[in-house]
Amino acid sequence: MTAAERFEPAGPLRGDYRPPADKSISHRAALFGAMCDEPVSVRGYLDSADTNSTLDAVRTLGAGLERENDGRLVIRGVGLHAPLDATGGMIGVGNAGTLMRLLPGWLAGQPGRTWTLDGDESIRRRPMDRVAEPLRLMGAHVELREERLPPVTVRGAQLTGVDYELPVASAQVKSCVLMAGMLASGETRVTEREMSRDHTERLLRMARVPFERDGLTARVCEVDELELDELVVPGDPSSAAFIVAAALLVPGSRVVVRDVGLNWTRTGFFAIAKRMGAVIVGELEPPGTEAAEEPVGELDVASGPLEATVVEPHEVPLAIDELTLVALLGAHAEGETVVRGAQELRLKESDRISAVVDGLRALGADIEATPDGFAVRGSGSPLPGGTIESRGDHRIAMLGAVAGLASSGAVEVVGMDVAAVSYPGFRDDLRGLIGRG
Ligand code: S3P
Repeated sequence: MTAAERFEPAGPLRGDYRPPADKSISHRAALFGAMCDEPVSVRGYLDSADTNSTLDAVRTLGAGLERENDGRLVIRGVGLHAPLDATGGMIGVGNAGTLMRLLPGWLAGQPGRTWTLDGDESIRRRPMDRVAEPLRLMGAHVELREERLPPVTVRGAQLTGVDYELPVASAQVKSCVLMAGMLASGETRVTEREMSRDHTERLLRMARVPFERDGLTARVCEVDELELDELVVPGDPSSAAFIVAAALLVPGSRVVVRDVGLNWTRTGFFAIAKRMGAVIVGELEPPGTEAAEEPVGELDVASGPLEATVVEPHEVPLAIDELTLVALLGAHAEGETVVRGAQELRLKESDRISAVVDGLRALGADIEATPDGFAVRGSGSPLPGGTIESRGDHRIAMLGAVAGLASSGAVEVVGMDVAAVSYPGFRDDLRGLIGRG
């Protein structure tokens, strides 16, 4: 994964664009499908390295998977409480943090079975104590390397509901506890400090699981079975954000993004970009919406001048995977852009604060790291360019590519292949939009 690729200034980007399917929702669709007794048909499941790891995992657990001629994925699950076919063993999660954080919630509630989850070099640096702590409080046995890291061994038990306050804003941990809550006696409550993505909650509503939200507290009760038959995965706003950023930065661009998920817990980046003066026309889901459906819509995006902004901590979970793009926009905007309260970025596929600060500085940006974010000063003109390392992080690789298109020189991205973790068609989509210029 060290192939270097050069991205020259190019564009404008023009035309219609459909982003790949949502990664977060695809992981959840596979897991929830596998927890059902009846077959679940998933339209638009993402074909990427990460989401294929989740398919492999549910297959290992006994679920059947079939591809229909029209591309739909049919999952024949093993049921929520059904003794999982196999009695235990190893599950490889690859690079998929979401799989590694969510799956233990289900496994924890399977008494008498022991599973070990492990993955690649990057996954082995991701903290798992955040998931182990609530699961242990619910009665499961969880072992970690050095009390903190994968591999993770989960010994299932009869779980008991808990009232758990999340110490970190993490949709993955919230989802893990809610999944375990379906298998725990009584009621399980999870309270977060700031609202994070709510795809798991929407699926719980859709599957008719006793579930309620009261402000920042989500409550779920023990249930016998899930009722789902069809799921539709919308386009991924996080993947679309890279193309949107390119369209905002490359002069003369105009792109219409179609069939993109507009769940308000995912569209923080678009809202921040609009505040910076970006031309993004389309109806975002109103903040605070509680629903079962995932909203899908269209965004009409055009290039133009940008102004600096300050991203406050409460906005961070709503744009967590796009904050590196805020840095790139900030490097091209007039004034100082600051992101605060984003220390979680240090624990992603790479330390994204240091990856984006070192990376953009190497391209000529005036940017510095803070303990919980970064500050970047732009002058309204393009970056000269240079070389950026992906550090094995798909989103840093794609950031480098966008920076190259928007630069005055060119950007070489070392380790571009890693983009396939979430977005295998990224280069083709980018080139397709440029080709139409
Ligand atoms: C995700 C939640 C976020 C995000 C990740 C996907 C999810 O992680 O960064 O890419 O699908 O729940 P955290 O829960 O660690 O914030």
